[in-house]
Amino acid sequence: MVEMADGSANLMVTSPPYYNAPFDYPGLFKDYDEYLGLLEDFSRDLFRVLAPGRVACFVTDDMLVDGVKFPVVADTTRIMLRAGFRYRDRITWVKPKGYVRISRRSGLVLQHPYPMYFYPDNIQESILVFQKGRFDYSFLKKMPREELEESRIPLDEYNGQGWALSVWNITNVLPLGDRVERGVAAFPEEIPRRLIKLFSFVGDTVLDPFLGSGTTTKMAMELGRNSWGFEKDAGLRRIIQKKLGNTPGARTEWITRKARMN
Ligand SMILES: C[S@@+](CC[C@H](N)C(=O)[O-])C[C@H]1O[C@@H](n2cnc3c(N)ncnc32)[C@H](O)[C@@H]1O
Repeated sequence: MVEMADGSANLMVTSPPYYNAPFDYPGLFKDYDEYLGLLEDFSRDLFRVLAPGRVACFVTDDMLVDGVKFPVVADTTRIMLRAGFRYRDRITWVKPKGYVRISRRSGLVLQHPYPMYFYPDNIQESILVFQKGRFDYSFLKKMPREELEESRIPLDEYNGQGWALSVWNITNVLPLGDRVERGVAAFPEEIPRRLIKLFSFVGDTVLDPFLGSGTTTKMAMELGRNSWGFEKDAGLRRIIQKKLGNTPGARTEWITRKARMN
């Protein structure tokens, strides 16, 4: 994220590539160590670009690859702590009950109704929330009242739609069909929408370093925030443009950088 100045992001919302996910990213990384290496390097740069006191959110999950389960959530947490962040919270994102994309592992018990055959079907992901130090709440007192009110959290949604809980029930983006995000493991708009409202102010800058189809930037624009997005796959530019195309008041700048080969 060399283009970004130190402390210039007020919030990060992202979902890093799911480690060698069988449908979306098979064989993307040589091995798990290479994946953790990417997160390590990234976490240090993130610590640099995030403003003091601010929050970084990861939507991620443990991965089952060829029958081996990789503890991505625990390892991401450890890496972020090592980079200097505080662990603030973990919210569990629960998808609708009928959503099982990879395999119905629970079916084994139906075939063999005996102990030791149980593997649950996965319908959740983790939203990990980290913080760079502590937020200085006197910042709110110094803000002009009207400006602060623009960032007021809608309490009807907060209470009525379960934002206040550590479990969020949100329908996922369906992997098939004629969607703009086809081929990208996109998260639903509702996730960045809530996180942006809960952890940033109007006019702040929101960063998504693994931009994918551009969902975070779209929501940042709709909510009156600026944003930075980084995406390695230049082929997604058209999809991102299409997604952002209808956003009112949107103004985008593109920086294209050749991938550095190690
Ligand atoms: C899970 S997807 C993000 C989806 C996104 N949240 C959305 O709603 O569309 C992860 C993205 O990270 C990208 N990516 C992988 N390695 C990257 C890197 N080193 N730098 C930037 N983007 C990378 C992948 O190409 C992929 O588009």
